[in-house]
Amino acid sequence: GNTQLIDRFGRHVTYVRISITDRCDFRCVYCMAEDMAFLPRQQILTLEEISELAATFVSLGVTKIRITGGEPLVRNGVVGLFEQLGRLRDQGLKDLTLTTNGSQLTRYAKDLAAAGVRRINISLDSLKADRFARITRRGELDKVLAGIDAARDAGIERIKINSVILKGRNEDEILDLVEFVRERGMDISFIEEMPLGVIGDHDRAEVFYSSDQVRADIEQRYALYPTTETTGGPSRYYRMESGETRVGFISPHSHNFCESCNRVRVTVEGRLLLCLGQEHSMDLKQVMRAHPGDRQRLQQAIIDSMQIKPKGHDFDLSRKPVIMRHMSVTGG
Ligand code: GTP
Ligand code: 5AD
Ligand code: SF4
Repeated sequence: GNTQLIDRFGRHVTYVRISITDRCDFRCVYCMAEDMAFLPRQQILTLEEISELAATFVSLGVTKIRITGGEPLVRNGVVGLFEQLGRLRDQGLKDLTLTTNGSQLTRYAKDLAAAGVRRINISLDSLKADRFARITRRGELDKVLAGIDAARDAGIERIKINSVILKGRNEDEILDLVEFVRERGMDISFIEEMPLGVIGDHDRAEVFYSSDQVRADIEQRYALYPTTETTGGPSRYYRMESGETRVGFISPHSHNFCESCNRVRVTVEGRLLLCLGQEHSMDLKQVMRAHPGDRQRLQQAIIDSMQIKPKGHDFDLSRKPVIMRHMSVTGG
C-alpha cells in the first residue's frame, strides 16, 4: 500500500502499535515496578475511540496494527474490539496482531482467531516455574504454557515467543527456549532490555546480555543462517538448518535499527508517540474529544505528527533512565 505517513527522514510508517490498557496481571521485573499506579478510566481511550483511531490510520495507508498493553487481554471488551478491527481488513489492513503475556489465551485464543488474528507474540522468559514466577512477580508458568497451546489449537498460524535475556536471571535457558519453539514450529525473538522507567529490581547495565552473546550461545549447538525475512518489526531473523523456526534478535543497544523504523505507537491515553525512546508526541485524544467524528481533522493531526518523529532513541544503560514512562504504558 501507499502510506501518506512519511517522516522527515523519508521513513514510511505502515505499522501502528496501540496500547489498550496500562494494567497487567504480571509485574515483570524489566517492565514494571512492584507498586504501580494505573490511570483512571476517563483518561484512557474508550474502545470506540480506539476503533476510530485504527480506522483512521488504515485510511492513511497503515497495513499493520498490533494491540499491546500492559496486558491487552485484561481490558474488558477486548474481543469486541478485535472484531471491529478485523473489519478493517476490507480497508487495507493486512496484519492484525497482538503482544500478550499469554495468561488469558486459554479463554480468548479462539475468539481472536475468529476475529482475524493470524499471528501472536507471547512473552516467555523462562521454562522453570519458580524462576518464571520470580521474573513476572505474579505469573504462573502453567497458565502461560496452556495459553500457548490454546493459541496453536485455535489455528493461529504464526506464534512468536519474546524473551528478554538478562545475565544472571535466564541466560542459561537460551538453548532450552530455542528447543521449545523448535519442537513446536514457532518463532522466537531475543530482546535486549531497554531502560524505560524506574523498575527498582536490578541494575540494567549489570544484567545486560547482548544479542551477539545470545547468538554465540545458540551456535554452540545449532548453526544459524541469516535471512532478509522480516515480520515488519525490529527483529533480525536467522533460520536453522531445518524446520520452520526463525530465531530473531531485537538489539536496540548493539545493532540499532532506528534508521529503518516504520512504526509509531498510541499510548493508552491516546498520545501518538513517535518513538519508543523519546517523548515527542501528539495528543490525539484531545483532537478526538474536541472534534468528535471529524475524521479529516484526525487524519491531518496524524500526518502533521510525522514532522516531529525523531531520528531515533538514545538509550544509555550506564545512566539513570531518561524516559520515566514505563514500558507498560506503550506495550513496548
Ligand atoms: P513482529 O510483528 O513480530 O515483528 O513484532 P514486534 O517485534 O514489532 O513486536 P513485539 O510487540 O513482539 O515487540 C518485541 C520487542 O521489540 C519489544 O521489546 C518492543 O519494545 C521492541 N520494539 C518494537 N518496536 C520497537 C522500536 O521501534 N524501538 C525499540 N527500541 N524497540 C522496539
Ligand atoms: N526492555 C525490552 N523489552 C521489554 N519488554 C517489556 N519491558 C521491556 C524492556 N524494558 C518486552 C516484553 C514483551 C514486549 C512487548 O516487550 O517482554 O514481550
Ligand atoms: Fe505485563 Fe508485559 Fe510488562 Fe510483563 S512485560 S509486566 S507481561 S506488560
